[in-house]
Amino acid sequence: MDVLRIRGGRRLTGEWTVHTAKNAVLPIMAAAVLTAEKTFLEDCPFLSDVGYMADILRTLGCRVARSGRTLEIDPQGMSGYEMPDGLAKKIRSSIFLLGPILTRFHKATVTFPGGCEIGLRPIDLHLSGLRQLGVEIREEGGVIHCDGRHMCAGSVHFDYPSVGATENVMMAAVLLKGRTVLTNVAREPEIVDLQQFLNRMGAKVRGAGSHTIVVEGVSKLHGVSYRPMPDRIVAGTMLAAAAITGGTVRLERVPLEDMHAVCSKLREMGCVLTHQGEGVTLHAPEKLRAFAQLQTQPHPGFPTDMQAQLLALATLASGTSVLVENVFENRYGHAGDLNRMGADVLINGRTAVVRGVKELYGAQVTARDLRGGAALALAALRANGETVIEQAQLIDRGYEDLEGALASLGAEIRRETTNSEYT
Ligand code: EPZ
Repeated sequence: MDVLRIRGGRRLTGEWTVHTAKNAVLPIMAAAVLTAEKTFLEDCPFLSDVGYMADILRTLGCRVARSGRTLEIDPQGMSGYEMPDGLAKKIRSSIFLLGPILTRFHKATVTFPGGCEIGLRPIDLHLSGLRQLGVEIREEGGVIHCDGRHMCAGSVHFDYPSVGATENVMMAAVLLKGRTVLTNVAREPEIVDLQQFLNRMGAKVRGAGSHTIVVEGVSKLHGVSYRPMPDRIVAGTMLAAAAITGGTVRLERVPLEDMHAVCSKLREMGCVLTHQGEGVTLHAPEKLRAFAQLQTQPHPGFPTDMQAQLLALATLASGTSVLVENVFENRYGHAGDLNRMGADVLINGRTAVVRGVKELYGAQVTARDLRGGAALALAALRANGETVIEQAQLIDRGYEDLEGALASLGAEIRRETTNSEYT
């Protein structure tokens, strides 16, 4: 188990460049197997979720190798169509490999990925979308057998704009002869990035970022070199770190056009953000103001992946903030630990009421999920004394060297790796 030790009280200042987005890289790694040719992903971040996805691709017979920050995926030797159960449980988002595997082999076997800390993570929308493309799906004892021999282009409507289900069906459609129209799709920027990657491979996909995506099937795709988009959630987290410490930080390589909801909330709390080119500078007020309310929504609404971080900011703001988590059913795991640090957070179902307090105190806390762990680190940056965050390895799923990033801006933070028997 890894722990982070953070001594609060330092204002963050300086510059930092945002790394490439986990939630763009993972679907793009899945899309890479739509061709037998090699793909090179440039500036690929060192994240544990990327490592798990690479292991899944290797288990399916692909060769995946790193050369510095470039990840090479060679799917030529891919022979497996059965998703490895143990690995697939490590990252639920591996379910969007289903579309590419069906496209390659016209059959696929996968087990239900199971829930996680933030919710049940069902896959009904994925299966419904694939069924609408003619995939025959049989569920037996937790194993899902997919027969794609009669897949064909057509119309797919999503009852809810699921990010992963949208990506899965996009990838299942690119080699289907004819036109496939997807309606009520998710509009996240990472889906636009996936569309761009697929089109670089020779696909014909348009409409990503809107409510409707149209795919004109092509006969073949080829390998590409591609640099996925920067991570808007990591960027938002680093801006929040500057905000909670009363600092001034400039970020480079920020997808600002995808961050209106987050930047607007930070301004509402009293932060001054100035944009120059692909960068943004945040100057924090001495004391943050509470926001009236924050509702997480599918993009372009406020991203659920930034809810924990803004809740951490609200614990020290003047006034009372109300948050409603509309996307996942159990995404307040960080509230209890924040209260251990002296915060005043009340949770009632999907609603959090946060009464700002004057100060937080260092404590021993536990990361329960990726973004909740990052939120605890933010609170620790301002808390009096030392905070110890256990299970810190969870943060590595989506943040490359978070402690190095924060330390480079002046934070007093270090990581310890313990072989605790209780890991
Ligand atoms: C993606 O997960 C992201 N992961 C998540 O980021 C992000 O929180 C989420 O989108 C929402 O933006 C990746 O891109 C790898 P969804 P995904 O399908 O695709 C329900 C992070 O911290 N649902 O849009 O799983 C689901 O339970 C992670 O980086 C169904 O009911 O999200 C949830 O309540 C966390 N049935 C809601 O929809 C389904 O078949 C949104 O899920 C699928 C989803």
